[in-house]
Amino acid sequence: MPDMASTERPNWAPESIDLDRPNAARIYDYLLGGAANFAQDRVFADKLLEVMPEAGPAARLNRAFLRRAVRFCVESGIRQFIDIGSGIPTAGNVHEIAQRMDPSCRVLYVDSEPVAVTHSELMLRGNDRAGTLRADLVEPDAILRSDEALRLIDFAEPVAVLMVAVLHFIPDSSAPHAAVTEYVSTMAPGSYLVLSHGVEPPSSDRAEEVEQLYQRSANPGVRRSPDDIARFFTGLDLVEPGLVWTPQWRPELPDDVGEHPEASLVYAGVARKL
Ligand SMILES: C[S@@+](CC[C@H](N)C(=O)[O-])C[C@H]1O[C@@H](n2cnc3c(N)ncnc32)[C@H](O)[C@@H]1O
Repeated sequence: MPDMASTERPNWAPESIDLDRPNAARIYDYLLGGAANFAQDRVFADKLLEVMPEAGPAARLNRAFLRRAVRFCVESGIRQFIDIGSGIPTAGNVHEIAQRMDPSCRVLYVDSEPVAVTHSELMLRGNDRAGTLRADLVEPDAILRSDEALRLIDFAEPVAVLMVAVLHFIPDSSAPHAAVTEYVSTMAPGSYLVLSHGVEPPSSDRAEEVEQLYQRSANPGVRRSPDDIARFFTGLDLVEPGLVWTPQWRPELPDDVGEHPEASLVYAGVARKL
């Protein structure tokens, strides 16, 4: 009997991708209501939502943080962005927000997942001030010295480097803190690091269950404490309000924060290189 997942391979899904193993980019796409996901991603996400029903709203709150952070960066004078772990395009992508505010903004999207890259390429057809690269966050040289980075980014000028909801997929054994330090050292003064990272109290039984679930996916998650997350900002100046739950980061309306900001599951912060 043919495998369910491989029978649904649409023409935008490269042959190289494994449809039978749930994948972070496609699970997140499903949580956000997108269509670039497959049966195994949906089974995984439905199970995740059973254990952790706030995962759906948390994905949307994370995305809303990203949009506010990009607007903040443009208002602060940034005109170039590197979005690493950019995901499958969804409403309010970085170039859409930034180029609406100033059409001269340039954006490089980077992701390690082929479906995310293929969709980004389709979205960016005809936009010569944005580009896409398939690469791994923990190989900064492959990103910073890529042809697309050299075409789009002037490293003598301030840049915003975004790592939104991606570092919690990278274990300490792959040295994500060292990779972030390398990006920061390349950034000109006046640049920004925009970051969000999942947080779950280490003692909760539920955290164990979610961790076990993710072990079966292509991107097992990593639990980090707020202090571990704060270390990603070493040497940078965190802008107000600091490292907080996503809805607490410069909400548009006070009511947007809600009574339980911790239900957003994700910490977020933006820091400036002096
Ligand atoms: C949860 S999505 C976040 C998407 C987007 N940044 C957002 O917050 O809306 C995480 C993305 O990180 C990507 N990713 C995971 N590990 C990565 C790595 N080592 N290098 C680059 N991208 C990675 C996944 O493929 C996925 O698209």
